Amino acid sequence: MSTAGARWWRDAAIYQIYPRSFADDNGDGVGDLAGVRRRLGYLRDLGIDAVWFSPWFPSPMADAGYDVADYRDIDPAFGTLPEACALIDEAHALGIRIIIDIVPNHTSVAHEWFQRALTDHAYRDRFWFRDGRGALGDLPPNDWGSIFGGPAWTRVTDGQWYLHLFDAGQPDFNWDHPAVRAEFEDILRFWFDRGVDGIRIDSAAMVVKDPALPDFDPLSPPDPHPWNDRDELHEVYRSWRRIADAYDPPRALIGEVWLADPQRFARYLRTDELHAAFNFDFLGCPWDAKALRRCVDETLDAHTAVGAPATWVLSNHDVTRHVTRYGRAETGFDHALRQARHLAPSDLTVGTRRARAAALLTTALPGSVYVYQGEELGLPEVEDLPSSARQDPIFARTASADPGRDGCRVPLPWSGTEPPYGFGGPGWLPQPSSWASFTVDAEAADPDSMLSLYRAALALRRAEPGLGDAPMTWSDSPEDVLAFTRPGGFACIVNLAAHPVALPPHAAVLLASGPLDGGLLPGDTAVWLRLTA
Ligand code: NOJ
Repeated sequence: MSTAGARWWRDAAIYQIYPRSFADDNGDGVGDLAGVRRRLGYLRDLGIDAVWFSPWFPSPMADAGYDVADYRDIDPAFGTLPEACALIDEAHALGIRIIIDIVPNHTSVAHEWFQRALTDHAYRDRFWFRDGRGALGDLPPNDWGSIFGGPAWTRVTDGQWYLHLFDAGQPDFNWDHPAVRAEFEDILRFWFDRGVDGIRIDSAAMVVKDPALPDFDPLSPPDPHPWNDRDELHEVYRSWRRIADAYDPPRALIGEVWLADPQRFARYLRTDELHAAFNFDFLGCPWDAKALRRCVDETLDAHTAVGAPATWVLSNHDVTRHVTRYGRAETGFDHALRQARHLAPSDLTVGTRRARAAALLTTALPGSVYVYQGEELGLPEVEDLPSSARQDPIFARTASADPGRDGCRVPLPWSGTEPPYGFGGPGWLPQPSSWASFTVDAEAADPDSMLSLYRAALALRRAEPGLGDAPMTWSDSPEDVLAFTRPGGFACIVNLAAHPVALPPHAAVLLASGPLDGGLLPGDTAVWLRLTA
């Protein structure tokens, strides 16, 4: 386990499993818990401290499981509750902690409460049902749009409308209703009682709405907002923190908080709220030394002010894989630009080189680090999926204009030379025929592979007392170079310039993301050093 013991979440390396695409044991083309249990040794050897599972609950899969029909069970496509409990125990025996995804903002239309609400108006208060506008009530109650495209309202047969910030299959809960609050407190205890070490909170800043559900005011600042970052939601997380802290060891709360303002972001990380939140500023930051330095500084300043650990994230199941992003002329990420950048040329050799350097950068920074499944293999985004295969609701809700997020969700390649590459059955999304060199087996046998780099970096990170939660200090360096030290004479240098730069004298190389050129560090390369003087 991580060096921090009970405060493991402060410096853990956390691996994200997207269950549909990790490993398929029963051969139906969809990943499952049996597949994960069979690969726990792989995760142990990778050197991670915890696994975060994207939702594994029963779901109609309108949004790949982020539409939860029952928060206390496992989707039959993935397995059973006893299997999940066995998985938790087996992971613990290997020193791996388990984080599960809790989705509080919305549920599924198949959830018992929503089904009841369709016929029993007493249940409608648990959601946001409203009459429509216009003489016939056939216009949505306000002007909010769904984040996935189209209106945020869907009409039911008796004429009322319900709010869904995402897909129509994902009705939003009304968090002003005491039954909703009590239900989630119980769900948290259900999983904590079964040994789950922490939760990732989906759409954590959206949970509370302005109950007047006003139209957008174009003159008001983006946040707080009628449905984002409202002050009232902090009390929800304070109550969750009390629950998490009542366990021994305390359970961790990790928020998915997309906010532009670092000060408002840090409010979620006050000592009586969440333990950590994903650093999307870093994920979206272009591959540019000045921008990255500024992002690291702003991150550390905002987190230090509230005593919270920073997190470092390069990819997840919602964003274009960073090998592909970093190979483009525009290397940053922004959801609003996904459509515009889809299929923009990407030099994957350059992208991979940068991704290797970024792996050493993120694992050397203070705080915890997230690895999205397949990132350790250097997988690129699959951009040419056929339309008929795409399942992300964004694709359908934007009339195919936005390709959505399926390209980063393609099943993992484990072995062999052709699809399904040891995944199990032919995957629910097709794997490229060019992935033979990305399989776990191929990369495990290659000391220069991305997998070997991640294994080496995570092993060194764990062994190095000055990494993890300890402070960092920037060193003097040219503008295109990021250089910093950590306690114990550890240094990390990342060269983002096109030309090589000199390495400091009196330093021994611990690990490099690519070949060094004598005493020079080539462009787009990172190195870890032990300073000897
Ligand atoms: C954020 C999740 O990461 C994403 O995959 C999902 O579609 C939305 N929240 C809605 O649950």
